[in-house]
Amino acid sequence: MTEHTVGYLIGSLSKESINRRLANALINLAPDNLVFTEIEIGDLPLYNRDLDANYPAPAQRLKEHLASVDAFLFVTPEYNRSIPGSLKTAIDWGSRPWGTNSFSRKPSAVIGASPGKLGTAVAQQTLRSILGFCDSPQMNAPEAYIEFTKGLVDDDGNVTVPETEEFLANWMARFGEFITRVRAVIPPGE
Ligand code: FNR
Repeated sequence: MTEHTVGYLIGSLSKESINRRLANALINLAPDNLVFTEIEIGDLPLYNRDLDANYPAPAQRLKEHLASVDAFLFVTPEYNRSIPGSLKTAIDWGSRPWGTNSFSRKPSAVIGASPGKLGTAVAQQTLRSILGFCDSPQMNAPEAYIEFTKGLVDDDGNVTVPETEEFLANWMARFGEFITRVRAVIPPGE
């Protein structure tokens, strides 16, 4: 099977992040042909278009990292019924300068965890809208709104509830198939 590089972005900067735990679990459960690299966003300044001609070093590093991968996995919390500002500023840097949008024509998937029952559903809809504007083909289904109960993912990234483990493994398998399909019609570099 063809290998695909997946850059994953975690919307939370917290060391205790449940979304980082979820990302670790997803990587453990992913098909073997997906290779993961974290696209770190914690050192980015707020986006400012006055700097488009001279990106600050962290934003330049972000651009290069985004360009180096085949697909994107967004694992995000919901903040005040939206995505965290840290994630939005990363997407804003990635989408510019005009004409060099790093997300265009590259496949993506969105998932998130919250202690609440809505499981980041509202934030995910917002993120889908942003990625749509950024011209990223998105996996529409299955959707995944994860209510994160205490201990759901252990320190080694193992999912402790078998039904959830099966659901997440299937979700990652579907993401792998989706990346393959998109790359078949949009070959790298086109
Ligand atoms: C939250 N939280 C939250 N949860 C939710 O389901 N919907 C929401 O709109 C919000 N809003 C919100 C705003 C802010 C500023 C904070 C700090 C938190 C709770 C949130 O889901 C919880 O803190 C998660 O643990 C955050 O994910 P990480 O950081 O653990 O990955």
